[in-house]
Amino acid sequence: MSKVFVNIALSLDGYMAPEGMTMEHWDEPEFKNWGAKWSALMGWIFDQQYFRHNLKLGPGGETGPVNDMLRHTAERTGVHIMGKRMFDGGERGWPEEAPFHTPVFVLTHEKREPWVRPGGTTFYFVNDGPERALEQAREAAGGRDIRIAGGADVIQQYLNLGLIDELEIALVPVLFGGGRRLFENLHEPLPSFRIDKVLDTPKATHLRYVRM
Ligand SMILES: NC(=O)c1ccc[n+]([C@@H]2O[C@H](COP(=O)([O-])OP(=O)(O)OC[C@H]3O[C@@H](n4cnc5c(N)ncnc54)[C@H](OP(=O)(O)O)[C@@H]3O)[C@@H](O)[C@H]2O)c1
Repeated sequence: MSKVFVNIALSLDGYMAPEGMTMEHWDEPEFKNWGAKWSALMGWIFDQQYFRHNLKLGPGGETGPVNDMLRHTAERTGVHIMGKRMFDGGERGWPEEAPFHTPVFVLTHEKREPWVRPGGTTFYFVNDGPERALEQAREAAGGRDIRIAGGADVIQQYLNLGLIDELEIALVPVLFGGGRRLFENLHEPLPSFRIDKVLDTPKATHLRYVRM
C-alpha cells in the first residue's frame, strides 16, 4: 500500500515558515523580511540540480546525495496533499508548469473546479476533510506514495489522525524566532517514530523518521 509521508524544511527553532507573510501584502517590507528568511530556509534546495531543473531555474546545480534524495522523493510520489495557504502562495509563485507533476488535493473550505496545469499537475479542491482527501489520494496514487506537502496545519491534522508513516525533515541552521510552528496543536495518542536515516551536510541535516 502507498506510504504517507511528510517531506519539509524546518528552521532550527521548529518553524516551517517565518512570521509575517500575508497574500494581501505581497510587496510590502514585512514580506521582504519574510522572503529573506524563507530564502535562508530553502537555500540548500535551490542549489540542487534536480530542483533547479524542476522549477526551470536554469542550468547547473549540485549533483551529490542531496540531489539524488530529491529525485527519489519525486519519483516515489504519486499524489500530493496540501493546505490552502500553501496553495495560495504557490499559485502566485510556481511556474505555469507547477512542480508537482501529479494530482494535488488541496484541503480547503473554498469550492473551486479542478485547476489543470501543463506538465501533469492538476489541483483538486477538497471540502470534506483530511480523511476523505487521503481516500481520494490513495485512489489516484497508482500505488506510489502520498506526500503531505504542507503547511503545518495540514501536517498536524494527519499526525493527529495517526496517518503519517514517514517524516522527512531538512533541519536548517537558521532561527526564525516565530512563525508557523510544525509541532503544535498535537494531541494524545501521539505517534512514535524511530530514526531511519540521517544525511549530514553543511547546509542542512536531512532527517528521516519512520513510524514504529
Ligand atoms: N518549510 C516547508 O518545507 C514548507 C512546506 C509547505 C508549506 N510551507 C509554508 O507553510 C505555510 C502554510 O502553512 P499553514 O499551516 O499556515 O497553512 P496550510 O496548512 O497550508 O493551509 C491551512 C488552510 O487550509 C485549509 N484547510 C486545512 N485543513 C482543512 C480542512 N480539514 N478542511 C477545510 N479546509 C482546510 C484552510 O483554509 P481555508 O479555510 O481558507 O480553505 C486552512 O486555513 C506557508 O507559509 C508555506 O509557505 C513550508
